[in-house]
Amino acid sequence: MTPPDSTGSTGSTGATAAAGSTGAAQAFHRPPGAAVSRRHSIADTGMEAEAAYQLVHDETMLDGNARLNLATFVSTWMDDYADKIYAESYDKNMIDKDEYPQTAAIEENCWHIIAGLWNCPDVANTIGTSTIGSSEACMLGGLALKRRWQLARHHVGKPTGRPNLIMSSAVQVVWEKFCNYWDVEARYVPISAEHPVLDGHDLARYVDENTIGVVAIMGQTYTGTYEPVQQIAAALDAIQAKTGYDVPIHVDGASGAMIAPFLQPDLVWDFRLERVHSISTSGHKYGLVYPGVGWVVWRTADCLPADLIFDVSYLGGSMPTLALNFSRPGAQVLLQYYLFLHLGREGYRAIQQASQDVALYLSAGIGALDAFELCSDGSDIPVFAWRQTEGHTDKWNLYHLSDRLRMKGWQIPAYPMPADLEELTVQRIVVRNGLSMDIAEDLLADIVEETAYLDALETPMPVEGPTAGFHH
Ligand SMILES: Cc1ncc(COP(=O)(O)O)c(C=O)c1O
Repeated sequence: MTPPDSTGSTGSTGATAAAGSTGAAQAFHRPPGAAVSRRHSIADTGMEAEAAYQLVHDETMLDGNARLNLATFVSTWMDDYADKIYAESYDKNMIDKDEYPQTAAIEENCWHIIAGLWNCPDVANTIGTSTIGSSEACMLGGLALKRRWQLARHHVGKPTGRPNLIMSSAVQVVWEKFCNYWDVEARYVPISAEHPVLDGHDLARYVDENTIGVVAIMGQTYTGTYEPVQQIAAALDAIQAKTGYDVPIHVDGASGAMIAPFLQPDLVWDFRLERVHSISTSGHKYGLVYPGVGWVVWRTADCLPADLIFDVSYLGGSMPTLALNFSRPGAQVLLQYYLFLHLGREGYRAIQQASQDVALYLSAGIGALDAFELCSDGSDIPVFAWRQTEGHTDKWNLYHLSDRLRMKGWQIPAYPMPADLEELTVQRIVVRNGLSMDIAEDLLADIVEETAYLDALETPMPVEGPTAGFHH
């Protein structure tokens, strides 16, 4: 029997029960006291597959609608052919290169294609890998910076105990994790109203002989804005001329590295800059693949110290592997390749442009309301953020607007900016493939309506105490 449809029709009623099944019906007609709400331990005996299906299905009914989740950067829509490839390959383990040599070869195709998109000077002499997402890709980029620095220091007999990494205070949490997990001092350059992103200003104060690298973000998580990588590289050139410290850059292009090649091809942020040693991205963000794939590529094979590379057996020979995970899904890699083949440059450009058009439409509409001021407008990556206009009201804040919109199904987070600007609350929309202009029109109408509702309040909304930070 086929599972109930997504409207949540259950086995206890109508067609399903009439079809003569007992499994799902049992999930709902159990003896008193036998109902289990949340399971934190495994039962001695299991239940019918159909009943278990129904419970899992029902427990997730209160999850938000992924397409209306405008908080996430991660793809929530792919076409039918992609679904078909996914269904044909969800059992493939990426690490089994000997067993799935074609999948392994396709992974290589992908990172070579990506190296080309990032203007790698010699695509044949580069190295890269797929990962589970940007977080793993950033970890690998950071590890390569650390090892390169350690090797250079060993070479001249200097100590290696106190490496540091320089980044903006608005980095994604993965960089805090990297520094914590791998014993690297995180040197945060605070963002401010004058310097809302890392831009090379004052960098010399942070660099010393223990600096393993600088992280530049293409598509800052809070506002979607690009950090000017070329300007950061120029600041590091000046520092090198003065001090001799040769500090490489890792570009965290989780979102922007799959936007800039298509929408801003003349912007110089990638391997055109010699100082950029490695770049990472999320295939599952603007790479347009479902969750579970990231990529990291090094400028040349020399930028990745050889002792970080392991070999796995491959067609009777060996193949380099450098991911942190051993097993991970191969299907998403195939989906990435499918999109490269299907869309080509022009297809990617058209999709990213459509998202950007929607972002610009929405940001213009929101920016036109008295209640709000834009922090960004979506002209870098199709992501933008806004704040409440200073002095506009003392009756409500952006968290209240977020709640009001959630009642209508929209998931649009409000959150504080990072350290040094934390008193500033912003709200952000991530426009992804699948958020059409028609949906955007409805969204804007709801934002206008809910803002008018809040503005008409005669007494202030209750305010919650501090909440945990928002990290994506
Ligand atoms: C700038 C940046 N880096 C890294 C990450 C982590 O990416 P992933 O979720 O693919 O691990 C994100 C996620 O939003 C991000 O915005």
